[in-house]
Amino acid sequence: MTPDVPTPAGGPRLVTTRDGLREALADVPAGPGAHAVGSAGGGSGRRAVVMTMGALHAGHLALVRAAREVADHVVVTIFVNPLQFAPGEDLDRYPRDLDGDLALLAGAGADVVFAPTPDVVYPDGDPVVRVAAGAVGDVLEGAARPGHLDGVLTVVLKLLHLVRPDVALFGQKDAQQLMAVRRMVRDLDVDVEVVGVPTVRDADGLALSSRNAYLSADERRRALVLSRAVRAAEEAAVAGGGAADVRAAAQAVLAGGEVDVEYAALVDPLTAQDVPADHLGAAVLALAARVGSTRLIDNAPLMLGRHDLEHA
Ligand code: PAF
Repeated sequence: MTPDVPTPAGGPRLVTTRDGLREALADVPAGPGAHAVGSAGGGSGRRAVVMTMGALHAGHLALVRAAREVADHVVVTIFVNPLQFAPGEDLDRYPRDLDGDLALLAGAGADVVFAPTPDVVYPDGDPVVRVAAGAVGDVLEGAARPGHLDGVLTVVLKLLHLVRPDVALFGQKDAQQLMAVRRMVRDLDVDVEVVGVPTVRDADGLALSSRNAYLSADERRRALVLSRAVRAAEEAAVAGGGAADVRAAAQAVLAGGEVDVEYAALVDPLTAQDVPADHLGAAVLALAARVGSTRLIDNAPLMLGRHDLEHA
């Protein structure tokens, strides 16, 4: 693949360098009125970014399509960020398929794909100054993967600076990541709108993830307990159950499964901390489990006791 040229057949323009990105953005500028929240593309000149680590699947394409609906120009970043992998995690075996990704993006409405190498993103080596996710990053994924969310937020902030979007879209499947990004944007006054996009699932219910590629047929069958637990929690919430009922519904399903559950928590979307048993309003069910050697997560935004309000 030749870098920094338009891909064939009207696909997105691939850039791999900071200069290439700058030139591509100059050709698809964000325009006046770009921050009109709720404007649906349509000539406003809004620029959206969808950040990914590649190995794209239908979940990523849903993000790109959602981006297309709220912006005129869509930039997709593809970068496997070493900073968010601890030593011994799957950085080396993380799936990479740039040509396949570009073929998928050609039909999804991306204008520019920024696919840098680590030396482009981190020209001085590992950054000395980083973003700390704080209390949002110490629990759930952060407890299992110390420093993971700091690495995520650091690269997300860098990519926001490089792409300068009006809106950034993230999947609800990585619920804690979405919470941490929202919190960073709020706490550090980052001038971008953050949009969460619902999880895309396979027909059997498994949440789409690049890591699903690691699963054997039997592991995949066992992994389905996660989405069954999510569904049970959703049903308990819709039936008017409180936090204790929702937790119990998810845990009952997980107890009958054949996976190693790392956590099953019901948390506040603003803090990622456990909600009390009498909690009303928005909450997030967050699940993580090991299936064989593969670690999977699944999540759902829920509304407890207040069905007149939209989901988180
Ligand atoms: O969700 C991901 O794929 C990554 O964590 C992200 C947001 C692209 C940062 O590397």
